[in-house]
Amino acid sequence: MKKISLIFLVFVSVFCFGQENVVKKNLPIIPLPKEIKISDGVFVLTSQTKIVVMADGFQPEIDYLNKYFKTNYDFELSIVKILPTDGNYIIITRPDFEAGWKENYDLTINENQIYFLAEGNAGLFYAIQTLVQILPLEKTPEIKIPCVQIKDSPRYQWRGMHLDCSRHFFTKEEVKKYIDYLAMYKFNVFHWHLVDDQGWRIEIKKYPMLTTIGGKRKETIIGKPTWEKDGTPSKNDKYDGKEYGEFYTQEDVKEIVAYAESKHITVLPEIEMPGHSLAALAAYPEFSCTGGPFETYTKWGVSDDVYCAGKDETFSFLEDILSEVMPLFPGKYIHIGGDECLKERWKACPKCQKRITDEKLKNEEGLQSYFITRIEKYVNKNGKQIIGWDEILEGGLAPNAALMSWRGIKGGIDAAKQKHYVVMSPGKPCYFDHYQSKDKAKEPLAIGGFNPLDSVYAYNPTPKALTEEEAKFIMGAQANVWTEYITSFKQVEYMSMPRMAALSEVLWTPIDKKNYKDFIIRLKLHTPVLDKMGVNYAKHFKSLK
Ligand code: ACM
Ligand code: ZN
Repeated sequence: MKKISLIFLVFVSVFCFGQENVVKKNLPIIPLPKEIKISDGVFVLTSQTKIVVMADGFQPEIDYLNKYFKTNYDFELSIVKILPTDGNYIIITRPDFEAGWKENYDLTINENQIYFLAEGNAGLFYAIQTLVQILPLEKTPEIKIPCVQIKDSPRYQWRGMHLDCSRHFFTKEEVKKYIDYLAMYKFNVFHWHLVDDQGWRIEIKKYPMLTTIGGKRKETIIGKPTWEKDGTPSKNDKYDGKEYGEFYTQEDVKEIVAYAESKHITVLPEIEMPGHSLAALAAYPEFSCTGGPFETYTKWGVSDDVYCAGKDETFSFLEDILSEVMPLFPGKYIHIGGDECLKERWKACPKCQKRITDEKLKNEEGLQSYFITRIEKYVNKNGKQIIGWDEILEGGLAPNAALMSWRGIKGGIDAAKQKHYVVMSPGKPCYFDHYQSKDKAKEPLAIGGFNPLDSVYAYNPTPKALTEEEAKFIMGAQANVWTEYITSFKQVEYMSMPRMAALSEVLWTPIDKKNYKDFIIRLKLHTPVLDKMGVNYAKHFKSLK
């Protein structure tokens, strides 16, 4: 009997020790913190645990934490200002000197206390994100939290995710959910693609037809567009015959921006120009080269019709729009697009050609540069900076512009060498509308490409071609979710998760701490959280060893 108990005890302790070790070595924290040391023991959180607040200004984050406890465990913790003489507590404080920490934090959990040290609200918010990732999901009166010491700070200042709400519209609630996912992984920029050939999605009070006409398309192509031999659209393409279109009111925008701000995420609005502008021209054809008429694009691809760069009224129109957009978004940057502006109309337009002559420009690339620089002056005068896709390099970069490198990394390298700030977002591996599995038959129809999880994880946004000084101009990176073939929010989740988790580690974790195998172990431990949230994440990684 004794012998059996002894064997049982040995078995139990080996088994438990083994379990503990697995858990200890691989807490499900994503992105992996800069420094993490896991020690023995647990902190037992109950409804009697106190929050001791020893610094001012952290109320929004304290409320966030208490709301989390309320939602997940049905209790809120009481808040005190001095250390209790009995019972355990969570302590929130700041360094007693100016540490220059904006996003950094320390989180120390021992058996008696959870100790948050942060200087900025973002730092405390990230510390809380880390804590909630290691909280158990079950509702129990005693919540056991492993003891751990974490010192954390991000690798990059720009950690972005984009969502195209033009090709397909996502509701305010869906956009907020997307922002929740970004916050969970410590992203700090939401790039909101609001405008394209296929739909204008933001209310502009001075030009209501931008949304009543430009916000709608009469139908949508089914599947991929095809082309005749002479380059004209194929007559065999099929359309769904259903009008499509919604938009965000300025009140919606304010609500989303405030929601994102509460999670330390800056919303970057994108107002495309001079190309990708057919929806706007369907409403206001007078700002095109030919005068129209036009219809909001019903198929995927890029329209030949773009804003006329020869008419001063085009600039007044865009400045009016920007004067309504800029106050809605408190961030430093306004994204002005600049990509894939076809030049056929400009070549044939007497006004555009006159502008080229008058301004002594070399060609249509020079005209594009003139266009962007003129808009940049207006944006700068209003206290903001522009950022644009890498085509804005062609014909010369506007003096203060930042650049988003999407056609590979060359644009980013060239801009950084010219001392312009850069966000890297190369199609490979940062386009999350591309396939994530080679087995395309089993995947929802996608635009093409192949960006599996491991390639996202392996990405290094700082190109080797840059010197240390030049590399300082790489602000970070982001992934783009274009939605021509992404028709529902469930599909947005499928395409972006868990690639978003992998990218978060690219942007946050020190490069020498990254390890794909370890990431996969943590991802598997983390997915119950996604299951609980009802996220439709892609599960290819589950078969990885
Ligand atoms: C882009 O994908 N046209 C920026
Ligand atoms: Zn023109």
